[in-house]
Amino acid sequence: SSPFRSAAVLSDSYSAEASELADIEWDNLGFGFIPTDYMYMMKCTQGGNFSKGELQRFGNIELSPSSGVLNYGQGLFEGLKAYRKEDGNVLLFRPEENALRMRLGAERMCMLSPTVEQFVEAVKETVLANKRWVPPPGKGSLYIRPLLMGSGAVLGLAPAPEYTFLIFVSPVGNYFKEGVAPINLIVEHELHRATPGGTGGVKTIGNYAAVLKAQSAAKAKGYSDVLYLDCVNKKYLEEVSSCNIFMVKGNVISTPAIKGTILPGITRKSIIDVARSQGFQVEERLVPVDELLDADEVFCTGTAVVVSPVGSVTYKGKRVSYGEDGFGTVSQQLYSVLTRLQMGLIEDKMNWTVEL
Ligand code: COI
Repeated sequence: SSPFRSAAVLSDSYSAEASELADIEWDNLGFGFIPTDYMYMMKCTQGGNFSKGELQRFGNIELSPSSGVLNYGQGLFEGLKAYRKEDGNVLLFRPEENALRMRLGAERMCMLSPTVEQFVEAVKETVLANKRWVPPPGKGSLYIRPLLMGSGAVLGLAPAPEYTFLIFVSPVGNYFKEGVAPINLIVEHELHRATPGGTGGVKTIGNYAAVLKAQSAAKAKGYSDVLYLDCVNKKYLEEVSSCNIFMVKGNVISTPAIKGTILPGITRKSIIDVARSQGFQVEERLVPVDELLDADEVFCTGTAVVVSPVGSVTYKGKRVSYGEDGFGTVSQQLYSVLTRLQMGLIEDKMNWTVEL
């Protein structure tokens, strides 16, 4: 029999099982992988379209040793979160933005990708099938990880003849081991994350492998993560290994402009809109690293990190500190508005949330 079961068939069996909370310790979730019940799979061959995908029990997948993703890195991922509301319903945050970003990335990587509707529908089905893993309100969120990979076999360098779209989920809490305490960054001035004309602006898996060396070295020295500079001038801020960066000075909030080497974060874009709605002036521009010296506050944004305050930045041996005990007032305000919106605690005037 087929390892795949249709969502309709599954829905009867999982609805009972998914209605009660999973039996795990919900306090102090970090950002480690916890296996859940179901994953979503959908395949497409070159020249065709993605056909109706299916939920299946979470588990290992089969892949040709000659697949495009394993040999030539033809892969993309996304990240989004689902929060449980007090009434038990679940909220997704801007899932169509992730769908669109995956389509742009697929174009850059010569991959076929699901339509926005297919992506969003698949996310909803996967979250509902795993509903018992969505943490109780205030305990965290369900991290949703869509993957797109060249699963077809190739030997010579070429786009793979088949693509697999897969979604798995895992309950998460804070990303950094510091919890909600400020993180300490070190500016990397030799290794680079991205180059003009490269793939830094899309969420391809190789971008993340490329930062592991600098990140590991930084962690070994006690830093939380690495802040990258542009590779041409070695002067302008780009991003942190897994998140975007913002700087606050008075009423002005600055963040590096999106210009092909920076990942267009959905939390980044949302925070810009939230900040403007709160009366701040937001500038997307070239931000010289020297400006960090007299910033009032520095913070990072990302789906995984949400809004994380930066307690210090070290650049060429010089350490600059910003309130090392907690959030600065501006980052606290932005964090609070964004997360209350994501959790359904304030009215969603932006129409960003999708209720399940
Ligand atoms: C996210 O924030 O969702 C990401 O994709 C970053 C990842 C390295 C955890």
